Amino acid sequence: MTNRGGIITGWGVSLPDRIVTNDELAKTLDTSDAWIQERSGIRERRWGGTVASLAIAAGSAALQKAGLVPTDIDLLVLATSAPDQTFPGTSATVQEGLGLRCGGFDVQAACSGFVYALTTAHGFLELGLQRVLVIGSEVLSKIFDPMDRTTAVLFADAAGAMVLEAVPGEGQLLGFDLGVDGSAKHILYKDNDGFVRMEGKEVYRRAVRAMVESSKVTMERAKLTIDDIDWIVPHQANLRIIDAACQRLHFPMDRCSQTVQWIGNTSSASIPYSLSGELDAGNIQPGDHVLLVGFGAGMTWSSAALRWGGVVREGGHGPNNARFMR
Ligand code: UT7
Repeated sequence: MTNRGGIITGWGVSLPDRIVTNDELAKTLDTSDAWIQERSGIRERRWGGTVASLAIAAGSAALQKAGLVPTDIDLLVLATSAPDQTFPGTSATVQEGLGLRCGGFDVQAACSGFVYALTTAHGFLELGLQRVLVIGSEVLSKIFDPMDRTTAVLFADAAGAMVLEAVPGEGQLLGFDLGVDGSAKHILYKDNDGFVRMEGKEVYRRAVRAMVESSKVTMERAKLTIDDIDWIVPHQANLRIIDAACQRLHFPMDRCSQTVQWIGNTSSASIPYSLSGELDAGNIQPGDHVLLVGFGAGMTWSSAALRWGGVVREGGHGPNNARFMR
């Protein structure tokens, strides 16, 4: 680690207006509200918009929360699995829409994408940038077959954004773990001209294992134990996966963010969406340790441990705070 770190100073989310209930899906698919809730926890989801439009709305809200204007941002990192075009990156449209004057690029690590983007952003802060906007945005409703009940009931659309600002010292990020195992890429994929294909059971099995193992690696690197963790904000794919991972980590579900019931699986948007919700609700307080953990196609996995509100350094001057820097 260098002598510069990052802290999150703003956050925001965006959802399409259209709510799609399980009962609505059961009108066209051989499925039911009972099956979807029992197997995934999902009650409803949102469909609509573009990756760029959702990202712009979430990014704008995050800038406002941070008290910044677009020209304050030094870099945009956009995580998405469903870019609006193959190229240019959707980050180009988001840059234009937000009026940013900086570099920008897309990160593609499927549902693990947000933590990949967040840790990438930290690297740029260590290199000297001051403020990075990190967004996870997905419109998965355009990449699955609406008549395939094994995927159509799960995936959905949303965006979540975080502003990351440089501070002297360690910052919020205490440790992280990124991984990919390409030997399993055939269990969840989308060819250029096809729809998403998934071996759900195998993804499920590997997801629980990856979440638990990656969480342990990150906690060890951050010199934390599970007893030190105040909140887990996991990727929201399936309530049963989250529950199984929490059980194996011996962590209470009531301190684990749960939004999948209302938004479905929104891939790289799910962690920033859920983290924003916990922050807005005041559930995460300064000094709390927060574990972010995701998994997805690749198979990829990613986790990061944050100490919310910055750190009090030895002989320090209280919690780091971006305003403190200006
Ligand atoms: O973001 C990361 C990527 N994705 C995931 O993390 C998803 C991981 N996997 C899962 O969440 C779960 O495996 C699913 C929710 C996809 C499926 O739950 P499951 O308990 O593993 O069910 P299953 O695939 O074993 O299917 C059980 C039965 C099958 O019928 P048979 O063979 O027992 O007769 C399926 O054909 O349920 C059937 N089925 C459905 N029935 C009603 C599959 N999809 C549906 C459906 N409605 N939508």
